[in-house]
Amino acid sequence: MYTSVLACLIASYLSYLVSASSASGTASSLASSSDTSTAAASAASSSGKNSKRGLSYPATDNIPDILNVNQTKSVISWQYDWGLTPPPNLAQSGIEYVPMQWGSGGIENLGAAVKAQGANVLLTFNEPDFDQQSNIDPNSAAQLWMQYIEPLRTDIPGIKLGAPAVSSGGSGFPWLTTFFSACGNCSFDFLPVHWYGEGEGGFYDYLYQMYGEFGNKTIWVTEYADTSLNDSEVLDFINQTTVFMDGLDFVERYAWFGYFVGTTSFAFFVEEALIYPNI
Ligand SMILES: *[C@@H]1O[C@H](CO)[C@@H](O)[C@H](O)[C@H]1NC(C)=O
Ligand SMILES: *[C@@H]1O[C@H](CO)[C@@H](O)[C@H](O)[C@H]1NC(C)=O
Ligand SMILES: *[C@@H]1O[C@H](CO)[C@@H](O)[C@H](O)[C@H]1NC(C)=O
Ligand SMILES: *[C@@H]1O[C@H](CO)[C@@H](O)[C@H](O)[C@H]1NC(C)=O
Ligand SMILES: *[C@@H]1O[C@H](CO)[C@@H](O)[C@H](O)[C@H]1NC(C)=O
Repeated sequence: MYTSVLACLIASYLSYLVSASSASGTASSLASSSDTSTAAASAASSSGKNSKRGLSYPATDNIPDILNVNQTKSVISWQYDWGLTPPPNLAQSGIEYVPMQWGSGGIENLGAAVKAQGANVLLTFNEPDFDQQSNIDPNSAAQLWMQYIEPLRTDIPGIKLGAPAVSSGGSGFPWLTTFFSACGNCSFDFLPVHWYGEGEGGFYDYLYQMYGEFGNKTIWVTEYADTSLNDSEVLDFINQTTVFMDGLDFVERYAWFGYFVGTTSFAFFVEEALIYPNI
């Protein structure tokens, strides 16, 4: 699992590099202060948890850390590990575990696995537009969706389904467009997005772009990070974006990428991971 997460990290970073030169956006002007004026407090609950804030967590990395997150009265309210079934340390943490059908492998058992843990929300295909990730062409993904994912609505009434989570590289947007046209009868409840780059402006542009282009569906940001090597810039980014998303109604949940403590070769993912739970 660890190596697959590391591969994910590298892959996501590569896709960021690919997209960085071509990325453009004009939506930041839409991200006016009025969007957040309805109080960041909307995400805070009486339990002291933040209903939006989650962890993307490599299940086999630094096993005690997930317990620390709980015990330090972190506001983290949910977690996922790109897997379908929580390993014991995550299952025992007391923090909601959200299952993911990462790719096409094992999808025949999806319904049973989701039912067995009583989950009422599901993430689906991780960066299918990317050959180093789940790498599924959009037409096959549409068939898999109709065969295995859409029927969950009957099997598990009330389940919330997340659309495939494409990369923020240039291939993500056209992949989703093709997927939705090939899958006219697929229904989804929220749109997971990933984003890597530098600076809040590009991130906000991307959120508004994805929101507007795919039917104004609620967004979950299931991976995001500022890739600057300057710690103070990264901290400033995470501080500002968490406050912004806490007050932005169409963002339902977000999870920084990622909670990696021992991955010293990627300093920009390590430093903020230590601080994120306490913000
Ligand atoms: C995590 O926190 C919840 C809520 O306070 C608690 O019920 C649970 O026992 C805690 N789990 C661990 C492993 O500390
Ligand atoms: C969607 O469902 C309708 C009604 O069952 C069917 O006629 C139509 O062919 C389906 N469309 C696609 C793209 O599968
Ligand atoms: C999304 O919201 C915008 C702005 O309110 C609106 O113009 C557009 O038609 C909406 N799109 C969909 C698919 O509902
Ligand atoms: C890091 O970024 C901050 C804010 O932009 C800047 O003031 C500082 O000089 C930078 N540090 C380095 C080592 O570049
Ligand atoms: C985040 O920003 C607020 C002010 O906007 C500041 O009070 C707080 O200390 C900052 N937190 C971190 C961790 O930088």
